[in-house]
Amino acid sequence: SPAPIDAPAVLDWYDHHARSLPWRVPPAERARGVAPDPYRVWLSEVMLQQTTVAAVKTYFLRFTSLWPTVFELAAAPLEAVLVEWAGLGYYARARNLHACAVAVVRDHGGVFPTTSAGLQALPGIGAYTSAAIAAICFDERVAVLDGNLDRVLARYFALAVPVREAKEELRAALQAAVPARAGDFAQAMMDLGATICAPRTALCMLCPIQPGCAATAAGDPTIYPVKPVK
Ligand code: ADE
Repeated sequence: SPAPIDAPAVLDWYDHHARSLPWRVPPAERARGVAPDPYRVWLSEVMLQQTTVAAVKTYFLRFTSLWPTVFELAAAPLEAVLVEWAGLGYYARARNLHACAVAVVRDHGGVFPTTSAGLQALPGIGAYTSAAIAAICFDERVAVLDGNLDRVLARYFALAVPVREAKEELRAALQAAVPARAGDFAQAMMDLGATICAPRTALCMLCPIQPGCAATAAGDPTIYPVKPVK
């Protein structure tokens, strides 16, 4: 049976190597009790669903300077939001973004719900985004699983079947590992997927969970995830 994911090793790596991002609270500050703003985390996660971190940074800074809180975004004309969204693609997301801001102000007094279940009831917020916000802002011990994490986990477990055939096993394995520092753990796993366990290269000698990784033990981690045979 495979080794469980070593959350303390992941957190120790994150304490030293967390990327500095405009929407992020660094781990040392988080440890002192500073929590990230759910508005900024929500905005960043919606943008990151279709675009790279490098491209999102500029858009994120522009949006938050124009609309620093959910109140300003909700009060902005939809047309202005669409203009600023230009280049990010998928305009339905920008419409949902505005609708969600309106709902947070109208139905919640401008305060985002603090649980993944409460967040998921908002327009345009699905399983991934609700889990990301709940973990990052409120340390809810929920698995935050995106396409990058699918790849990391498929490698870690040397998953013999395509990810789509093992979604629930991967989710359960990740869920079992989520520590009290759930938000730092979620962001650490994302950084690991972006900087160490990347799609075409795996820098295994730098990886905090390399000791338990079934794919490195077997040879070449980049053969995972295996592709579906269409
Ligand atoms: N990709 C999606 N969400 C992210 C986050 N919070 N940090 C880094 N990369 C991400």
